[in-house]
Amino acid sequence: MDTTIITNIAVLTSGGDAPGMNAAVRAIVRSGAAHGIEIIGIRRGYAGLCQGEITLLNPRSVANILHRGGTFLETSRHPEMKTVEGRKKAIETLNRNGIEGLVIIGGDGTMQGAAALARECSVPIICVPSTIDNDIYGTDYTIGFDTAVNTAVSAIDKIRDTAESLPRLFFIEVMGREHGFLSLEVGVACGADAVLYPEMGSNHLDILCQTLSGSLRRGKLSPIIVVAEGEAPGGAVEVAQKVKARLGIDYRVCVLGYIQRGGPPTARDRILASKLGAAAVEALLKGKKGCLVGEQNCTIELTPIEEALSKLKAMDSSKVQLANMLAI
Ligand code: F6P
Repeated sequence: MDTTIITNIAVLTSGGDAPGMNAAVRAIVRSGAAHGIEIIGIRRGYAGLCQGEITLLNPRSVANILHRGGTFLETSRHPEMKTVEGRKKAIETLNRNGIEGLVIIGGDGTMQGAAALARECSVPIICVPSTIDNDIYGTDYTIGFDTAVNTAVSAIDKIRDTAESLPRLFFIEVMGREHGFLSLEVGVACGADAVLYPEMGSNHLDILCQTLSGSLRRGKLSPIIVVAEGEAPGGAVEVAQKVKARLGIDYRVCVLGYIQRGGPPTARDRILASKLGAAAVEALLKGKKGCLVGEQNCTIELTPIEEALSKLKAMDSSKVQLANMLAI
């Protein structure tokens, strides 16, 4: 294996936290230790990077975090990273502390910051995709998505019990401001009658009302509709009110909200985080930079961050068809 001489690597978590971020940091620290590399933790994401909040990590600092949601390094949404001045502060922290490689764990907003930083500084950067939204090109799944899906599905299973006992329409709002990956996966897994998400066409309300009328005609008593939060400005509440105005049927809305971001990561997320964390360290050792490390068809793949940002991950149309076919 061709290796680059690197003596230390810094790591930070940024943007919306996702279950499995801790597992990824643990993998970075421990695989770094296996290669004799010092690992430096940066607290509070880009905010901590700009303000120089660094701490040394060792294999014991990451004991007992594999199974915990959230991120022990903490995170932030830090608009200053969108400015050249903000990024100068980040670069100063990297230079002042002699940091030789940086792993950035987060979602698409985080990757935009990483791309700008990678253009302006000489420290090699590798991104690890982690967001419950699964909306990142270059990896089949992002860390945290599987846990969020399972959290939403177990909540909807409970709602189904009450819905079947006291029939009415149930609109369940799941996260996803810009994309419908979470809503579609949840919809298939919980047998929803309909799934609504931002990528759908503008006539979605007509289609939804037709679908629900058909479901009720066929004897369904308590249709469940999964709605991505970004589907309408007012989310599931707005959709429910519009359906009531057209069909006149009683409804209830349940917004699952931030419970989808918490809780212990599933085994799948822990394993993905462990693989991608270790792969990020390997990539830096091989002299790679400006890349996202992802898993595609069970193989670890590197994609340039700029390419990952410029390409849109496609919704799985066969899953959309499956959801519709099975909802009869
Ligand atoms: O990107 C992850 C996510 O949970 C989205 O699904 C959601 O729209 C957003 O973050 C919420 O952001 P915040 O934590 O800033 O309220």
